[in-house]
Amino acid sequence: MKISVIGCGYLGAVHAACMASLGHDVVGVDVDEGKIAALQSAAAPFYEPGLNELLADIQARGSGESATDGGHTGSLRFTTDLAQIAGARAHFVCVGTPQRRGENAADLRYVDAAFSSAAEHLAPGDLIIGKSTVPVGTARRLAEDLHRAHPDVRLVWNPEFLREGHAVTDTLHPDRLVYGIADDADRDATAAVLDEIYAAPLANGSARLITDYPTAELVKTAANSFLATKISFINAMAELCEASGADVTELADAIGLDDRIGRKFLNAGLGFGGGCLPKDIRAFMARAGELGADQALTFLREVDSINMRRRIRMVELAREVCDGSFLNKKIAVLGAAFKPESDDVRDSPALNVAAQIQLQGGNVVVTDPKALANAEHRFPDLTYEPDVDAALAGADAVLLLTEWKQFTGLDPEATGALVRARRILDGRNVLVPATWRAAGWTYRALGRP
Ligand code: UDX
Repeated sequence: MKISVIGCGYLGAVHAACMASLGHDVVGVDVDEGKIAALQSAAAPFYEPGLNELLADIQARGSGESATDGGHTGSLRFTTDLAQIAGARAHFVCVGTPQRRGENAADLRYVDAAFSSAAEHLAPGDLIIGKSTVPVGTARRLAEDLHRAHPDVRLVWNPEFLREGHAVTDTLHPDRLVYGIADDADRDATAAVLDEIYAAPLANGSARLITDYPTAELVKTAANSFLATKISFINAMAELCEASGADVTELADAIGLDDRIGRKFLNAGLGFGGGCLPKDIRAFMARAGELGADQALTFLREVDSINMRRRIRMVELAREVCDGSFLNKKIAVLGAAFKPESDDVRDSPALNVAAQIQLQGGNVVVTDPKALANAEHRFPDLTYEPDVDAALAGADAVLLLTEWKQFTGLDPEATGALVRARRILDGRNVLVPATWRAAGWTYRALGRP
């Protein structure tokens, strides 16, 4: 099928490449010329495992001619010219919905602009499919606007659940596909077009749910709120473990064995960051307020506070380990990205902690395998060192804040030979305390004795 993808950021670039790999003919559009140039040369403007390989593979396969086995190979091109979406049957809108400056609510200006400018190039029978995470009620409003000028174009809300670091696999093998469709005479025909687009994941067992617009929008925000709540729940337990001398990792293992609870997303530590969970729970609270249902989500305020408290606790713990002061101390910070296998530093707990320690007089050096360029852009006043050994050299304390395998695999003896004082803080509860202590290290972690 001929498909367009409007907005080639994280979500859109991955979606465009994955749709082409499923055999569709895809055009990806973005206003950012640099981003488009990078994607055209199979070099995504961000780090995502497997994406550059996928882009290169699609380009190498050619331009959608029939494969030798008779199947269609799919094609992919990128442009800044929105008019080139004309002729596609389905148009995915994948633009960002950042948090509004100084407010909790989502900024919908990119979504609104994408829908209104795309509308000029749509033909009767086209589908326009929203993938961005939006406040509930947005799809219905957009559909009403759209239908005034284009009564024959259908709008679908089809939220995306991909995780950074696993974006390609998550897009090609989603747990579920949610189609938010208006309840009208075209409902089945609309669903059939989406089934054709997603034929491969559906054949591989992805579940498919057809809902109305508000339910589809809420599936996304509810899922992210649940995940954030699960993380903050275990981090609240970590606070209790700290107060009582218990071990939160053993607690998580034990409660996680109850399959009604499950062990996933019970990793206590520095908490959640990134471009999604923090802003999505805040936008959800703001939207609930607008709908007169703010009481329903007051607990999310607590989820947010627990999460932010962990960063403050980490700084306190580090200061404690440094005998009460960071002055004249070198603090090696391992990790800048908000999670491993990503170069994304949006709302990164690691950088937040690093910046706080620097403000308190510490000589902070941050290292990360992929995220240093982005980190430097956001926090230009921190010191960065790509070489892990150089970052560790002479350190008075080591803080492991993003659990890249380069860091979780560090050897206590070899690391000990580099630092000035053997003190390590495990912000993600990923090291084996006994091994580090046996090598003479002071080991401290959040939620562990
Ligand atoms: C999230 C959702 O998982 C995804 O479904 C949605 O589409 C977008 O938002 P992402 O932000 O890529 O994805 O990362 P995720 O793996 O969910 O991690 C979010 C944050 O939570 C990270 O900072 C991570 O370190 C933290 N986390 C995760 C924990 O602190 N503990 C855990 O047990 C799990």
